[in-house]
Amino acid sequence: MIKIGIAGAGAIAGVHIDSYKCFPQLCQVVAVCDSFKDKAEAVAVGKGLKARVYGDLGELMADPNVDAVSICLPPNAHCSAAEAGLRAGKHVLVEKPMAGSLEECDRMILAAETSGTILGIVSQNRYKTPVAKLKRMLDKGLLGSVSYANFDSLWWRSPVYYDLWWRGTWAQESGGCFMSHAVHYLDLMHYLFGMPSRVRASIHNVGHDNSECEDLGFAVFDYKDKIVHFTCSLVSHGERQSITVEGDRGSVGVPWTVSANKSLPNGFPEDDGAGRKVLEDAYLALPDLELEGHDAQLGNFLRAIRGEEPIALDGRTGRKTIELIMGIYKSSVSGAPVTFPLGTEDSFYRKESMVRLMPKFHEKKKSVDNFSASKITLGRDLGR
Ligand SMILES: NC(=O)c1ccc[n+]([C@@H]2O[C@H](COP(=O)([O-])OP(=O)(O)OC[C@H]3O[C@@H](n4cnc5c(N)ncnc54)[C@H](O)[C@@H]3O)[C@@H](O)[C@H]2O)c1
Repeated sequence: MIKIGIAGAGAIAGVHIDSYKCFPQLCQVVAVCDSFKDKAEAVAVGKGLKARVYGDLGELMADPNVDAVSICLPPNAHCSAAEAGLRAGKHVLVEKPMAGSLEECDRMILAAETSGTILGIVSQNRYKTPVAKLKRMLDKGLLGSVSYANFDSLWWRSPVYYDLWWRGTWAQESGGCFMSHAVHYLDLMHYLFGMPSRVRASIHNVGHDNSECEDLGFAVFDYKDKIVHFTCSLVSHGERQSITVEGDRGSVGVPWTVSANKSLPNGFPEDDGAGRKVLEDAYLALPDLELEGHDAQLGNFLRAIRGEEPIALDGRTGRKTIELIMGIYKSSVSGAPVTFPLGTEDSFYRKESMVRLMPKFHEKKKSVDNFSASKITLGRDLGR
């Protein structure tokens, strides 16, 4: 039985606890920690856990009866908490974003490799049936040659969202909507297509006057044989998050859409019903995932600890997403394309130099320790 500790008893902690509860034969949540100890107590009671409650991360990491820790802390605490857990010999699962800089990612990877324990990074949208099926279809080459893909990471958050103390500053959150929200879709981009060779990007703040960081941004990624266009927003009513992939045999999307055209004699399109059916049939023939989202990813984390399968999203994979975001920020401030990879001497490798270079769209003037409501939404359901 794997004994789990939860670090941070805020909004996402309950999602982790519920997901661990899907595996009662494999694990048990035995400890909850939050610097507001009453929050940890409330979560333990509210979720019906027989768990020890800590008000200090050091106590949690020193607990010999904790085998693995879910890091559900604000982004600025991910690196130090993960390092502490890994060095204490615990397996560690870190919420997105992995960390606020590439240097922090490298410290976490080193700590995992030194300790020999498992470091996993949450990106639960890989575990959505339409995403998993799209990945299989691309790997099989069913779309033919892919020329272009479009990612819309469109979300809506009111200005109040940024009143929480750690949000909306380069130092604490390490970014705006690219770091906090598009992080999910940037992970899917390199999952589906690998890493691009370069990026051109721009960032803006059009509606959040309590945030230093962007609430709107655009990026174009160049690959050897394709282009990926990315829109990232926190001002989009309806939150229409989606992916579209254009191949020469058809166009498919997440949430699932399919279309295929063939040419009329004058070059205008008409529906290619047969081509569309090939793609539709291939999609339907692929199996649905048994579990989705956090349930599925935490299941992988537990089975990886048991040595039954590899960790699906390790530190090196999580680091790629942070590298993409740092490339976006670098291109946004320089106005020039940025080529990957970013080296350790790059001014966007370390957080301090990145923070110095980023524009402060607004000064963060309002800050609250906690919101009275803990309910959150996890975006458009990309699943079945
Ligand atoms: N995967 C997803 O879809 C998803 C959704 C929401 C949040 N998240 C991520 O989860 C993380 C937490 O977000 P949240 O919305 O739960 O934030 P939150 O502010 O609601 O919760 C964080 C908790 O950590 C506690 N905390 C902060 N510093 C601490 C420390 N040093 N020691 C002990 N406790 C400490 C705070 O008191 C707070 O209760 C963030 O990285 C966020 O990006 C992921």
